[in-house]
Amino acid sequence: MRSRVDSIRSFRVMDVLERALAREAAGHSVIHLEIGEPDFATPDEVIAAGISALRADHTRYVQALGIPALREAIAASYAPADLDPERVAVAPGSSGALQLVMGLLLREGDEVLLADPGYPCNANFVRLYGGVPRLLPSGPDSGYQLTAQRVADAWGPKTRVVMVATPANPTGALIAPEELEAIADTVAARGGYLIVDEIYQGLVYDRAPLSMLASRDEVFVVNSFSKYHGMTGWRIGWLVMPHQYREAITRLAQNLFISTSTPAQFAALRALGPDLRVEFERRRKVFHQRRDFLVPALRGLGFGVPLLPAGAFYVYADVSGLGYTGEQLAHELLEEADVAITPGADFGSYRAAEHVRFSYAASLEALSEAVARMGRFFAGPAH
Ligand SMILES: Cc1ncc(COP(=O)(O)O)c(C=O)c1O
Repeated sequence: MRSRVDSIRSFRVMDVLERALAREAAGHSVIHLEIGEPDFATPDEVIAAGISALRADHTRYVQALGIPALREAIAASYAPADLDPERVAVAPGSSGALQLVMGLLLREGDEVLLADPGYPCNANFVRLYGGVPRLLPSGPDSGYQLTAQRVADAWGPKTRVVMVATPANPTGALIAPEELEAIADTVAARGGYLIVDEIYQGLVYDRAPLSMLASRDEVFVVNSFSKYHGMTGWRIGWLVMPHQYREAITRLAQNLFISTSTPAQFAALRALGPDLRVEFERRRKVFHQRRDFLVPALRGLGFGVPLLPAGAFYVYADVSGLGYTGEQLAHELLEEADVAITPGADFGSYRAAEHVRFSYAASLEALSEAVARMGRFFAGPAH
């Protein structure tokens, strides 16, 4: 019998990273635009809080849903929405939170609607929990996202869950608030469940962040300290659930994780301190500047970027006008220009071979050097 793990692929970006590291070991200076984590380190104050927690003997298991102080601080971070901390489950990253919610909702054979391209782990979690991911092709015409109409059209007898990320990886695309409301209505009218991944919600550039929890209680929202707070390696995130699932989620969390890293919870609590907001907002502005540099520069090089990515730190670029597949271009740019990017194939199958993802989690200097190297690469004799 095939195991569920047989349907799970490794990330091509890891192959890119491995080759990039091998080139660096051979003396090349590689510009890393393949990696999906902020280049900013965890702030010193947050590191200090983690160390103090360890020294104060916070080295044991804690409550399955997280320490009360952190759950309260997370709930308060949604103000002016009045969120009950009892609805918050702390988890090992939004990866942990997604597993909690999939474990809660999915029955064998349940269908989950997702956008293609999208963050690949989501479809894999669905498979692991016995569900069937249904990937709906999502191009620039629908803002690279699901719409209420497309959800309604795709809904079938087995459909149970719709999962969206806003902003999304790899496109940085947001779902407009009114469209998201319409999606929530469509799902609710069919007795289904909506999961909203808001991991990049802190990193939006043209308007203030807006959680779905500002207007809805009957949705599952996941988020994390990984991206906005620069804490990927601490492995800490959270789920906000409707009240009635608290007991079931507690049982799942106890069994899956026992509890989330205790020192990481104390560090995360510090990261929510209002005084650190200034630093995180400064970082957001830096990402914003980088986006505003990179997108026109890529367009100038011949990449297709039909929509300005509204958030996250990614540009999903169409390479079909350049005469390459995404895989070829990622390979050649690394071998010939020492610029590492991710082939679109990591994020789905819909026109994936025609795309690559650039991550701008790199300094403006590094980005402008990468653009200069790509300019020379495309002007070179072989092209
Ligand atoms: C859209 C999206 N969701 C969830 C995750 C998982 O992140 P973490 O488990 O670090 O919170 C990522 C990581 O890249 C992501 O891009």
